[in-house]
Amino acid sequence: MHMERSLRTHIALTARMVAAAAVALLALGAIAARAASVPHAMVVAESAPAAKAGLAVMRRGGNAVDAAVAAALAMGVTNPASCGIGGGGFMLIYWAKTGRFYALDYRERAPLRASANMYLRNGRPDEALARTGPLAVAVPGEVAGLAAALKRFGSRDFQTLAAPAIRLAESGFPVTPHLAWEISRTADIIRHDPGLSATFFDRGGNPLKAGDVLTEKRLAGTLRNLGKDPDKNFYRGKTGLELASFIQRQGGLVSPEDLASYRPVWRTPLRFPFAECEVYALPPPASGGVLLEMLGMLEKGHLPGLGFNSVPYLVRLIGVMRQGFIDRQQYGDPAFVKVPVKELLSPEHIKEARALALKRTPAPLKTAAHDHGTANLLVVDSAGNAVAMTTTINTIFGAKMMEPRLGIVLNDEMDDFAVATGVRNVYRLAGVKPNAIAPGKRPLSSMTPIIVTKNGRFVMAAGGSGGPTIITGVLQVALDLLEFHMTPARAVSEPRIHDQANPDVVLVEERLPVSTRNLLERMGYRLKVWPELGAVGAIMAGPEGLRGAFDSRKGGGADGF
Ligand code: GLY
Repeated sequence: MHMERSLRTHIALTARMVAAAAVALLALGAIAARAASVPHAMVVAESAPAAKAGLAVMRRGGNAVDAAVAAALAMGVTNPASCGIGGGGFMLIYWAKTGRFYALDYRERAPLRASANMYLRNGRPDEALARTGPLAVAVPGEVAGLAAALKRFGSRDFQTLAAPAIRLAESGFPVTPHLAWEISRTADIIRHDPGLSATFFDRGGNPLKAGDVLTEKRLAGTLRNLGKDPDKNFYRGKTGLELASFIQRQGGLVSPEDLASYRPVWRTPLRFPFAECEVYALPPPASGGVLLEMLGMLEKGHLPGLGFNSVPYLVRLIGVMRQGFIDRQQYGDPAFVKVPVKELLSPEHIKEARALALKRTPAPLKTAAHDHGTANLLVVDSAGNAVAMTTTINTIFGAKMMEPRLGIVLNDEMDDFAVATGVRNVYRLAGVKPNAIAPGKRPLSSMTPIIVTKNGRFVMAAGGSGGPTIITGVLQVALDLLEFHMTPARAVSEPRIHDQANPDVVLVEERLPVSTRNLLERMGYRLKVWPELGAVGAIMAGPEGLRGAFDSRKGGGADGF
């Protein structure tokens, strides 16, 4: 209890320090405005320089996919604790000319030598091995995903799009308050890794602070060496060989064969009607289906009548979040398990799930989840094409390892698997059988980028970071925009809640009024007050053009023309 309180105090204090540093950086002009309203094209990213990189591409005639690739590479440089070419992600693309949607899965994969029992030590699961160190590393998919998107939709070559990222890595950029917080929060661990300590600590051995200049020259060289055929150079060339040999020397499993056999997967996007719109999302192993099921349980038009963030509204949300997460236990990699997404999104199941969600009563338990790595970006171009992308190395600084010569931060995506049935991962999600480890399998993800259309025209896009709070954060922002008609700036900044059914506790942001919290507690809900729950960005179309905003909980850029 004492530890919990001191952790909360620490996080609250850190949040205040981050806010103060943000004000200082804003004054220096180092952070872009949080929201923007423009007529034609827009980028919203969890990194201001990344948003700028994407925008510059579109100003020179590049399309939304070109811009997304440039922004993703720049985001990997500027948000290296959250994402990068050592990780993987999901991309949802709306191609306006044809009105078609495309879902690209470039999630990391378990190495071919991985096994369901790989984290058992003396018959007991050792969860820490899946989170930190070489055995936590899964086969990265980021470069293959960006290359595949570019090959199908791009109009620029990879090196042209990598140029802003290379410039940022080479010349340096000011550390944001959020990155400074991530460095200081993990300093005791990452200072022991030669690559990370050389990059994220100053000469005196102190963690870099907000406003300090961060350079990543090794990463710049690696991005340059990927050349014009990044897929070949990363997965079947010198870069891949160096990467695999480093991971194996450290005791990890990722091999040259793992890299050579990695392929991104084009999947059929999920589609679900809501509020006279069509909501598109990523199928498993992403969690788009969970979000769509939650939307389905919320009868259209009833929510505004309940009042935004009123107690009845929050009770309704808690019910659908819980039911959605209960059904999420059937999710896994569709190449290995049959995920009944169609059934879960059928009118019959939604009706049944809604009844359960309305009936569910609170029951007390103990622990909670919190924001970690991952980053989101959204792009709309002047032709009306849109990209919603979420990408990750999993927790902050992933496996807490960097390949020092390549400057690549390694992911700890193996922790998104069930280390053993019932064992919780870093997000307090209990391990379930469909998400058991198998060679070449993709771990279940909470990443949930969405794009919404009405009569075939772009309405909004959203996505976020923060483990399972991504699903509930994107849900709440989508409802704010579609049902409560808020601006994106307001929608992303309203206080949020999160409930993942197990542990049976409702996380509420401390900005949620105390009177509301008290009423929920009196109803029997066990609440845990948390400074911030994840980060969500959004772009919304309106008569005057596009409005967009990133979440000040993490920082970023929203800009356009
Ligand atoms: N690594 C976080 C997620 O994919 O859910």
